[in-house]
Amino acid sequence: MPPKWYWPIDPSNIPKIVVEPPGPKAQEIIKMDESLVMQSFGRWYPLVIRRGYGPIVEDADGNLYIDFNAGIAVMNVGHSHPRVVEAIKRQAELFTHYSMTDFYYELIVKHASMLREIVPISGDKRVFYTNSGTESIEGAMKVARGHFRNQRPYIVAFLGAFHGRTYGSMALTASKPIQRFGFNPMLPNVIHIPYPYPYRCPFGKNLTEEECGEAVLGYLEDWIFGKMVDPSEVSAIFFEPIQGEGGYVVPPKNFFPGLRKIADKYGILLVDDEVQAGFGRTGKWFAIEHWGVEPDVITMAKAIAAGLPLGAIVGRANIMDLPRGSHANTFGGNPVALAAGIEVINIINDEDLMVNAQSW
Ligand SMILES: Cc1ncc(COP(=O)(O)O)c(C=O)c1O
Repeated sequence: MPPKWYWPIDPSNIPKIVVEPPGPKAQEIIKMDESLVMQSFGRWYPLVIRRGYGPIVEDADGNLYIDFNAGIAVMNVGHSHPRVVEAIKRQAELFTHYSMTDFYYELIVKHASMLREIVPISGDKRVFYTNSGTESIEGAMKVARGHFRNQRPYIVAFLGAFHGRTYGSMALTASKPIQRFGFNPMLPNVIHIPYPYPYRCPFGKNLTEEECGEAVLGYLEDWIFGKMVDPSEVSAIFFEPIQGEGGYVVPPKNFFPGLRKIADKYGILLVDDEVQAGFGRTGKWFAIEHWGVEPDVITMAKAIAAGLPLGAIVGRANIMDLPRGSHANTFGGNPVALAAGIEVINIINDEDLMVNAQSW
């Protein structure tokens, strides 16, 4: 059954073009934008948004589009879902900020206990709130190195990965040279290895999917750990369970179980970046669940608060052990964003959105 339709607009009438885009209003706004804003983005289509209704967006000139962008993988419950709007309004009337770095409020424990229920890590867990995907990755890097009190300075990441654009996450990102061009030196001690891309396996086009998975695992153990870095100096392997920016690459079935085995053998943490693949997008709360593998730490952001800036790091309690005063932020766990985030989890459950995602 398709999800419930709440918005004051007839979905059968869409897409609808009333003026060839970019129309006059869109052109005017784009021109001003170019004269006011640093143009470092990768914008590839002149879409100027005026409103969003569920899976539909309306541009500045009244054209209606089906929003396959979902606000770049953010609007998993649709634009302006009435339950999210109501939760935001309700919370905004109570208080909009009171930094959890120094104080407490109930929404934090409400949302964290909901996250604890859905994250595929068994046992006791701890949550840390951020404002974005890149900040979740930065925090997870500090958790990984800090947990080992910097006795394990190396981190392994994958070619084709996208983990963000600030200095730590940029050092893990390896999907386009322009993302690091001119910004060196990077954060040191990050080693990139190939990702098991079944259709363009970096170890030979004739390998089966499973052979490609094995080849990547063998490269890590035999070549990186055998020839370059002792695995006892590696704190974590950061990975996307499905590479997003790297080309929507789904690794073979044997890959994450094999990676888990290697990580366990050497005491290395597995950090699962679910910023893009998570929160119901693949028909499960987190994409790694398709492989039946438990990571040690999960990073998330994008879809978790329906467009409000909220991210989170969730990890095993014994790993999320950074000492008091060593990591914090002013806005992470903002109360309005948490109120929206609680509604997002409720809506995905109540409207069976993951069942819907599995059936398409
Ligand atoms: C897998 C992944 N990790 C991290 C990020 C960075 O998130 P943000 O843009 O919120 O910093 C992204 C953004 O696209 C992403 O796709």
